[in-house]
Amino acid sequence: MKKTECGGARVAGIGHYLPERILTNFDFEKMVDTTDEWIVTRSGIRERHIAAEDQATSDLAFEASKIALADAGVEPEDIDLIILGTVTPDMPFPSAACVLQDKLGAKKAAAFDVTAACSGFIYGLSIAHSLINNKKGEKALVIGVETLSRITDYEDRTTCVLFGDGAGATVLEPCAAGDGILSTFMRSDGSLAELLCQPGGGSRRPLNEERLRNREQYLKMKGNEVFKYAVRAMVGASRTVLKEVDMTTEELDFLIPHQANIRIIEGVRRRLELPKEKVIVNIDRVGNTSSASIPIAFAEAVKNGEIKRGDTVLMAGFGGGLTWGAALLKF
Ligand code: ACO
Repeated sequence: MKKTECGGARVAGIGHYLPERILTNFDFEKMVDTTDEWIVTRSGIRERHIAAEDQATSDLAFEASKIALADAGVEPEDIDLIILGTVTPDMPFPSAACVLQDKLGAKKAAAFDVTAACSGFIYGLSIAHSLINNKKGEKALVIGVETLSRITDYEDRTTCVLFGDGAGATVLEPCAAGDGILSTFMRSDGSLAELLCQPGGGSRRPLNEERLRNREQYLKMKGNEVFKYAVRAMVGASRTVLKEVDMTTEELDFLIPHQANIRIIEGVRRRLELPKEKVIVNIDRVGNTSSASIPIAFAEAVKNGEIKRGDTVLMAGFGGGLTWGAALLKF
């Protein structure tokens, strides 16, 4: 394996949080014209967690961050950077990262959100890695977190069955070159924005009565069109980060793909020629939690002993924007 040129950043701690309330496919059978069988066959999802009414995105992030900080043995006051991937911040501004910074008491941290939908965590890792390499901070908290239930249209069966809420957090710190994050890749194609978006509520289409009636405050997705791009983009991003450090898929211990659809995950796995046991899957219990999906799957797999220190892990994400990317790391 080729060593990376610059110093690195490693994941020193990891944690996740899923809200208590669970919505099962059988709950959806009572809400919209759907069946457990359709949802499982088409998406692989059986249940998803939903935030309580008084839980906002920063609250979920706070719970995951506390676990990650404790796991790393790092105090909030020692954090220099908080980078939070989300499309469902507590409010348009200030950022959820700033709300979290205050909750944690991370007094010396710069804090900002990254809006890259399901690629938010990968984008966040990539930015944190660069900033640490450039000595703009030593310790970074990188989070993927969503309360997608707030922007999900529970009258639209084509989207509502897919999404869930949750948070995953990592603490990054400097390490020697060739360890920790080995390479990252980020890409976007805004010409495909309308395939997956929340049309209302921004400066282009501020919400008014008519737009609320048209349900523009909710996420819209042309799922089958998004599907076409997802596998190709995630496979391409994965190959790019592997090539950058002269690694092959055989050298990987695990792939953590964005958990959007089991058929997409299977498509990526097959194209990368990875055996099933090397691919982390929790979509059946967690659903699609956008930017939180990769760090939740990562944290769960570490907690249950599947991923261990020293393992080589590839993460690949894809989502609204469109955005996509990958990160390769030695855990
Ligand atoms: N229950 C029953 N029937 C349904 C449901 C449902 N919940 N939803 C849709 N259908 C129907 C459709 O109306 C359609 O019926 P028709 O043929 O009579 O028109 C039929 O099922 C097939 O619909 P498709 O949309 O073609 O189904 P598909 O096999 O593509 O599966 C899905 C849909 C699961 C959304 C899939 O396309 C997908 O996972 N796409 C990718 C999503 C993704 O990766 N998103 C990116 C990340 S998310 C983010 O960034 C926030």
